[in-house]
Amino acid sequence: MNGPRKLFVKSFGCQMNVYDSRRMADTLAPEGYVETATAEGADLVILNTCHIREKAAEKVYSELGRVRRLKEAAAAEGRQLVVAVAGCMAQAEGEEIIRRATMVDLVFGPQSYHRLPELLARAKRNGTAVDTEFPADDKFNHLAAPDPIAIRARGVSAFVTVQEGCDKFCTFCVVPYTRGAEFSRPVAKILAEIEHLAEAGVREVTLIGQNVNAYHGEGPEGGPCSLARLLERVAQIDGIERLRYTTSHPRDMEDDLIAAHRDLPQLMPQLHLPVQSGSDRILAAMNRRHTRADYLDIVRRLRDARPDLALTSDFIVGFPGETESDFAATLSLVNEIGLSGAFSFKYSPRPGTPGADMDDQIDEATKSERLQRLQQVIERDQAAFYRSCLGRTFDVLFERPGRHNGQLTGRSPYLQPVQVDAPLRLIGGIATVIITEVGSNSLFGTLTQANAQYPSSESALLPAGA
Ligand code: 5AD
Ligand code: SF4
Repeated sequence: MNGPRKLFVKSFGCQMNVYDSRRMADTLAPEGYVETATAEGADLVILNTCHIREKAAEKVYSELGRVRRLKEAAAAEGRQLVVAVAGCMAQAEGEEIIRRATMVDLVFGPQSYHRLPELLARAKRNGTAVDTEFPADDKFNHLAAPDPIAIRARGVSAFVTVQEGCDKFCTFCVVPYTRGAEFSRPVAKILAEIEHLAEAGVREVTLIGQNVNAYHGEGPEGGPCSLARLLERVAQIDGIERLRYTTSHPRDMEDDLIAAHRDLPQLMPQLHLPVQSGSDRILAAMNRRHTRADYLDIVRRLRDARPDLALTSDFIVGFPGETESDFAATLSLVNEIGLSGAFSFKYSPRPGTPGADMDDQIDEATKSERLQRLQQVIERDQAAFYRSCLGRTFDVLFERPGRHNGQLTGRSPYLQPVQVDAPLRLIGGIATVIITEVGSNSLFGTLTQANAQYPSSESALLPAGA
């Protein structure tokens, strides 16, 4: 084995890439790679890329420009900097990336991460290596688990991939092509991973997948297990106090999952449920397989199950053929739901998806104008939601030291960052906090009297190195 080498992994795009980046670092740790926080001085730089919109891909090429200069500077000092492009853009563009950015040594898709050591050796032998296969083999069986020190350094809240890929084929989306067919990990593997995280101090787990509520992994009795049943099992793990899952498709919001929002106290009252459009005509063209009425019915049932549920969503404006009246239906849907926040995007035609070949593409100016109008109503609703938090008492999970000395940053049940004057030993603990001030994206609060006098030190987890 070689001496310690420095690894810098940069994630673009979604939370699954953040999870994957960590698993790549875990897989390279036994090879002698130590993670660093900057690309400067690194021996291996991995860009874990996103291909969901054109902008995401452009960002990667401009980052590659910066990395090229680092590689040249390293060569001038007689050092070798190996540059790898991973993730969805690597899957979609393959060798094209090396043609466009000739300094790239290694290109590999999301199904090849466990083969990283072998790919690095191949790049060393041959100059470059490209691997964008979809092997039948389950990569999760081969990816190394993090050690407890790495887990602690990553904090008390962790993502765990339970499902990958998608079979829905929305006509705007590249995911079914870049991540492949829907695959659910077996329950036993997921539970073992979360037990390992909990033992190292993790208190909150977000189960992630591109279409997470389509989860149907092999259960303890051999048959498929639903996401609701999986959440129940995870909730029984000692130390796991909070659960979330993302991202869900309305079609897979089954009755047992809706009931879990009523029955599982660990499941936080917050759900991201993308709807994309409020127009039935556009939803059909998007191949969403649900209508506006279906979505509203799901929202009603969720709120019956959990009245304090906060909902967020995703929207696309300017999908091919979207008229002013289709767009008005999206605005009216936002008004009808009352969201606590949302992401909204201009439609970006992705090569190889059906939407890219549709007639009636919408011009850029119309897309921008609609996006602005949509964002105004979303911001209005988000501000109203934040204002409604003033004076409320929340359980806050403390994650790390705050902006100022003596402050901690935690998360409300609704995932909002909360700044609180609190002792360091509360990191990893949950305490009740009264919200005294609201900003546009964060809350400020004070510990309630009981917590201030009797801080729990048993559940405390100090940050690594403290
Ligand atoms: N153009 C714009 N937005 C897109 N999304 C997915 N594909 C596209 C595209 N081609 C958005 C959807 C999805 C979110 C992750 O990204 O709203 O829910
Ligand atoms: Fe893409 Fe989500 Fe539709 Fe799957 S369900 S194709 S991931 S937008």
